[in-house]
Amino acid sequence: MSDKATLTYNGQQFELNVRKGTIGPDVIDISSLYAQTGAFTLDPGFTSTASCESTITYIDGEAGILLHRGYPIDQLAEHGHYLETCYLLLYGELPNEAQRQEFEDAITNHTMIHEQMQKLFAGFRRDAHPMAIMVGVVGALSAFYHDSTDINDPQQREIASRRMIAKLPTIAAMAYKYSIGQPFVYPRNDLDYASNFLQMCFAVPSEEYKVNPILARALDRIFILHADHEQNASTSTVRLASSSGANPFACIAAGIACLWGPAHGGANEAALSMLAEIGTPDRIPEFIERAKDKNDPFRLMGFGHRVYKNYDPRAKIMQKTCHEVLNELGIKDDPLLDVAHELERVALSDPYFVEKKLYPNIDFYSGITLRALGFPVEMFTVLFALARTVGWISQWREMIEDPSQRIGRPRQLYTGEAQREYVMPEDR
Ligand code: SDX
Repeated sequence: MSDKATLTYNGQQFELNVRKGTIGPDVIDISSLYAQTGAFTLDPGFTSTASCESTITYIDGEAGILLHRGYPIDQLAEHGHYLETCYLLLYGELPNEAQRQEFEDAITNHTMIHEQMQKLFAGFRRDAHPMAIMVGVVGALSAFYHDSTDINDPQQREIASRRMIAKLPTIAAMAYKYSIGQPFVYPRNDLDYASNFLQMCFAVPSEEYKVNPILARALDRIFILHADHEQNASTSTVRLASSSGANPFACIAAGIACLWGPAHGGANEAALSMLAEIGTPDRIPEFIERAKDKNDPFRLMGFGHRVYKNYDPRAKIMQKTCHEVLNELGIKDDPLLDVAHELERVALSDPYFVEKKLYPNIDFYSGITLRALGFPVEMFTVLFALARTVGWISQWREMIEDPSQRIGRPRQLYTGEAQREYVMPEDR
């Protein structure tokens, strides 16, 4: 196949380079298009635009495949654990025993936050959405760790990366504790990552908290499923914010802000609220019709995806994890799970969803699982942000370490007023 593409424009022919990846679609390099033709390309929502070259995550949307550094997500979720996936995303290879131990010890020993940061929480109303608190407090890390913000220093990039992976669970748990008026619980160095998060969320000073290893393993797997996902909206936000050389902690806060939206990471919260609103399987047809009605803004939350036009591979693993958690907790029949199963069955047989290739995504079953684990619906996207932090950081490092990296600065198609003269107030 040719490594050139030819564009005919304004009666002239222009040659553009075609580049091939290891796997996946070719790209047509248009970086010289404006210089050659005086024209921009237009692609709102970036449906046909590759924003960067990356070696971290690959998604085949048609086949429903997700690879992290070449390893399929189902194998990582089945055999590995979250900090192993973090190491893989950050450094490109699965760790050997010595590397695993060093990395886990480093993360464990950075889980506390500066004691003065506790005072930030008091500035929020108790009923503040925990994602609002996350945006504020994670951004405030940039005011406490000045020794890890010179992004041009590899050592400082490394410490900033490990600090964020280590401290996000502590801040997330504090956001939860603050919202329910319970005292903050310090991290414990004798617990693994997921167990530590559970105890920081659910332990109380008045009694001993025992971690359920089945539930901790399920939560660790949920973190793996959310770790990274190519150039999604929040990752693109982190890349664009970081392209100006901004403080890494502040750029991660920007990613958290973007993830909050119901079209993105906020869909897990919205999906559970939708299942609760439907309430019983007999009301599903009404909501299916609403989802298909162009005049109704209602959409099936947890359904559809910009890239997956097949089953989201994470959704299948999430569904399996959901059943494991409900079984472990002795929850025989969760009415919302019944609604979810029936909704999935009906939607996947409806021509509208079949034609548009709308399948359940990662957010469809995560809400039921997280609620069963004891988290309130407002915390669902917080857990997504906690798990996705390593993805944002890995992509941030890849961009900063790319010698060709420049500030991201898109252009536009201008359809406003042509130049005109100022009209004095008395003449208007
Ligand atoms: C995540 O990008 C990522 O990788 C994200 C993510 C990650 O790990 O980072 O995977 C996490 O964000 C998952 C997606 C969570 N969002 C939701 O579940 C919200 C519900 N889904 C939709 O809002 C929608 O599917 C999006 C936002 C996910 C994707 O939107 P697109 O790619 O812009 O697709 P679209 O809105 O243009 O939809 C295409 C068609 C439209 O119909 P037409 O205008 O062509 O007639 O499908 C319809 C849409 O109306 N459609 C839906 C639908 N999703 C799309 N109709 C009903 N219910 C839905 N859920």
